Amino acid sequence: MGQFGGPEEMAITLNNGFQMLIIGLGVWRMEKNEMRDLIINAIKIGYRHFDCAVHYKNEAELGEALAEAFRTGLVKREDIFITTKLWNSDHGHVVEACKDSLTKLQLDYLDLYLVHFPIATSHTGVGTTASALDENKELDIDTTISLETTWHDMEDLVSMGLVRSIGISNYDIFLTRDCLAYSKVKPAVNQFESHPYFQRDSLVKFCRKHGICATAHTPLGGSVANTELFGSDSCLDEPILIHCLRGLAKKYKKSVVQIVLRWNIQRNTVVIPKTSKLERLRENFQVFDFKLTKEDMDLIKTIDRKYRTYQPGKYWGIDVYA
Ligand SMILES: NC(=O)c1ccc[n+]([C@@H]2O[C@H](COP(=O)([O-])OP(=O)(O)OC[C@H]3O[C@@H](n4cnc5c(N)ncnc54)[C@H](OP(=O)(O)O)[C@@H]3O)[C@@H](O)[C@H]2O)c1
Repeated sequence: MGQFGGPEEMAITLNNGFQMLIIGLGVWRMEKNEMRDLIINAIKIGYRHFDCAVHYKNEAELGEALAEAFRTGLVKREDIFITTKLWNSDHGHVVEACKDSLTKLQLDYLDLYLVHFPIATSHTGVGTTASALDENKELDIDTTISLETTWHDMEDLVSMGLVRSIGISNYDIFLTRDCLAYSKVKPAVNQFESHPYFQRDSLVKFCRKHGICATAHTPLGGSVANTELFGSDSCLDEPILIHCLRGLAKKYKKSVVQIVLRWNIQRNTVVIPKTSKLERLRENFQVFDFKLTKEDMDLIKTIDRKYRTYQPGKYWGIDVYA
């Protein structure tokens, strides 16, 4: 039993001794007016880990729902794991940005604070997340703040008691290695896109080897949401891939989504699927009553297409992964 109750495999111990639940609820693209019911219902189902970011513009709504859950005794603060993220335009204002998020979330500490992207952009005001574009309609990148400087400011948050763990997001192997070299407090987590169509096996292995917990954002490939936003193919509809996953779903009497989430969990990778539907909240959480065989894990390995669905660069006039 871990700190959060439930089976042992539900909790991952981070490199600083704190525990993190292997499944969390991503709250990006949740509508403000649906947040209260979704969060309260998620807690009732058993979710104890929520992944937010100032960029999602719903920290206040998440904070309101959590405050209600604490006030009514549904759950205690120490039983919940809250992540939020530093936006690109706040790299030079880490402490103020973190305090702003804490205020919106009505919390006095964060369980995890992540550098959302390894890129600093022109400052648009603490807690605002406008991505300023230059005269060519390209992201106005700030070349004066190094990631090392940002990281040392993140480290200060730990000594100030504002944050328990700090981590990185959307860092590749090169940048993760560099962060390890300059950090006094090692990153506890690297959060990046990972699902059967974009597995990132080398990055997962690198993180594991160096004691960094890998967290899969977009663990369902974003489904139709990323098709609508970025024009990405909806992986969950791709005929060849889905054929393989449907076969496994039938074999284990589970849904395709449960197979996809279970596969990442068995790689010791945290998953943070988002849904705004109550029945899917339940479905996505029911992934601890079966285990994929090694052969089936290997079979999923063969459907990697190295296909990235999360493409914010489409709005920034520049491919940041180029
Ligand atoms: N660090 C970063 O840069 C970064 C980037 C992207 C995402 N994230 C985090 O990762 C979280 C998840 O990513 P995401 O929301 O982009 O993508 P995702 O979780 O891979 O996919 C979400 C999509 O899948 C659908 N879905 C969820 N459960 C389903 C089920 N059981 N059956 C069928 N469809 C289902 C959802 O629709 P419904 O809502 O209609 O169910 C939604 O359209 C985010 O909320 C955020 O917290 C972080």
